[in-house]
Amino acid sequence: MHLLLIGSGGREHAMAWKLAQSEKVTRVSVAPGNPGMQLENKVECLAIDSMDTEALLRFAQTQDVHLTIVGPEAPLVAGIVDTFTDNGLRIFGPRAAPAQLEGSKAFAKDFMAKHNIPTASYATFNTVEPAIAFIEEHGAPIVIKADGLAAGKGVVVALSVDEACDAVKSMLDGQFGDASASVVIEQFLDGEEASFIAVVSGRECIPLATSQDHKARDEGDKGPNTGGMGAYSPAPVVTDSVHNHVVADILQPTIDALADDGMPFTGFLYVGLMINDKGQARVVEYNVRLGDPETQPLMMRMDSELLDLLDHAVNSTLPAAKVKWHPGSAIGVVLAAGEYPAGSSKGKPITGIDDADALGCKVFHAGTMHDGNQLVTAGGRVLCVTAVSESLQSAKTLAEKGAATIHWEGCRYRSDIGFKAIDR
Ligand code: AMP
Ligand code: GLY
Repeated sequence: MHLLLIGSGGREHAMAWKLAQSEKVTRVSVAPGNPGMQLENKVECLAIDSMDTEALLRFAQTQDVHLTIVGPEAPLVAGIVDTFTDNGLRIFGPRAAPAQLEGSKAFAKDFMAKHNIPTASYATFNTVEPAIAFIEEHGAPIVIKADGLAAGKGVVVALSVDEACDAVKSMLDGQFGDASASVVIEQFLDGEEASFIAVVSGRECIPLATSQDHKARDEGDKGPNTGGMGAYSPAPVVTDSVHNHVVADILQPTIDALADDGMPFTGFLYVGLMINDKGQARVVEYNVRLGDPETQPLMMRMDSELLDLLDHAVNSTLPAAKVKWHPGSAIGVVLAAGEYPAGSSKGKPITGIDDADALGCKVFHAGTMHDGNQLVTAGGRVLCVTAVSESLQSAKTLAEKGAATIHWEGCRYRSDIGFKAIDR
């Protein structure tokens, strides 16, 4: 079978690696992919942009593609699944209408309010003065979010009223273009975060193993927000009782409401949770795709076939799918540019990946490229060093040994990924 995978990040490298392990798969074409994927058996990279729906459609139509799988949110929100499905092609991901759960924070908040799904209280604004009056009335801490897609950078957790007002002013002043033409202001939620990701097919779902990522750049979860500096699975904060509560009160009501509203969901549904000390979970955000970097440790732990699971979802036979997980823990440590998240790095030679592999780690690429024969940096998050082992502590020790073998000028990573789970 020939598969088409859309995307170019660490998440897609891990998905391509996992998909290619299936004996049924002869070829995985990734558009546009990255140099790390090119090294994988059966994987090839295509010179097609992930937003070039016409070119992707032509490729799938002429190259006997069994299934197309969409990694990132932007093509989903733009409607790639509608185009493929309307042309009779099999594709895994939600249509544009339910993808608004990620594409518009205001849509997601209105949806949760309408369907009584637990989340922070909020209000939406598109002019500065009423927004500031709202902030002054509620005080800090308070959270300001750009309505649209802002590559994970459109959220400010403001610790003072001044900081909140400044964030509102810059966003409504066009900081993220159309994506911040309106803002959601919401109540600050206390607790521990976890990523709860499920494969969904209409009213049916199979939760994946739980995971948690670290969004802050610096150790101790301090410093600016990033796309994610590391992740691990499972997340012990999601106890069995929290798990049952999330499925009963959040996941199932969400997918049923989507189906009732005439926009049934097929794809990965990622519910970002805040779990308080009483074990009550509230939704911080929805994403309509796998998480990055959560996918990297999740793929390391998945002991069954990813393709089978996705095929069952697309065929509306999801309950027949079998999913197995490594009983231990997996971790991914992101190696980022010194300038990240404000900037990125380009053209710095990278060494040591083979040494990390030799230790038993798996290194997924994100922001890399070739300069002649030399692998060099090409982004903010450059690599993700992953390891799986019987405990989180031993997986962490192994991944950090691997990370320490890799070098480029300015490379940085956190040495405390998973600390909350280890402290428990
Ligand atoms: P989001 O893009 O909505 O996931 O927000 C990015 C990050 O901001 C989240 O992962 C949280 O760490 C934080 N955050 C977002 N909303 C809230 C909230 N209501 N209360 C506390 N922290 C939040
Ligand atoms: N790791 C968070 C995300 O993928 O949105």
